[in-house]
Amino acid sequence: MDVFTAISQRKSVRKYKDKAVDEDVLRRVLEAGRIAPSAGNRQDWKFIVVRDNETRHKLAIAAKGQMFLAQAPLAIVGCAIEPTYVMMCGQSAGILDVSIAFSFMMLEATEQGLGTCWLGAFDEGAVKKILGVPDAMRVVAMTPLGYPDETPAGRPRKSMEEVFCYDRFQL
Ligand SMILES: Cc1cc2nc3c(=O)[nH]c(=O)nc-3n(C[C@H](O)[C@H](O)[C@H](O)COP(=O)(O)O)c2cc1C
Repeated sequence: MDVFTAISQRKSVRKYKDKAVDEDVLRRVLEAGRIAPSAGNRQDWKFIVVRDNETRHKLAIAAKGQMFLAQAPLAIVGCAIEPTYVMMCGQSAGILDVSIAFSFMMLEATEQGLGTCWLGAFDEGAVKKILGVPDAMRVVAMTPLGYPDETPAGRPRKSMEEVFCYDRFQL
């Protein structure tokens, strides 16, 4: 599968099969995150692969009851280790680093026939408690990882003209 095919085929999957993900397939997805780019190559990230059913269940409850997080056989939780480190542009490098690596993993998951769904709706304090993430770190995103049990329709997107402008900012 080429990159553009993975990008265009990826959809948020909210229903998963009760089918395990082989270790080598998982490793390949994780490798896509490990080698992702990061600010100053600081790799300010830690990803927690959640295999334990009960833990995923607790996470799903902390994520507004989005139970598909528990339905998939695996979940990945992305944390920024030093989120107070800001770049010259004033933005947290770690939050961006984790987001980029997450995106890379989601695309590799698509290539491997796996589904993902970026979850941003969660109680960060509760997630930290469940997973033992230190207070000073930030939980940036979570996703289920497993074989899709649905074929989601594509969601609409803004037009090229709305999204891009040339040479100067223009709404
Ligand atoms: C930062 C971010 C947070 C999101 N949070 C959630 C979420 O908590 N629950 C959910 O079901 N989908 C969530 N999504 C998925 C979006 O709803 C989805 O990407 C969007 O509707 C486009 O659909 P598609 O991913 O199928 O192309 C999130 C996506 C992003 C990028």
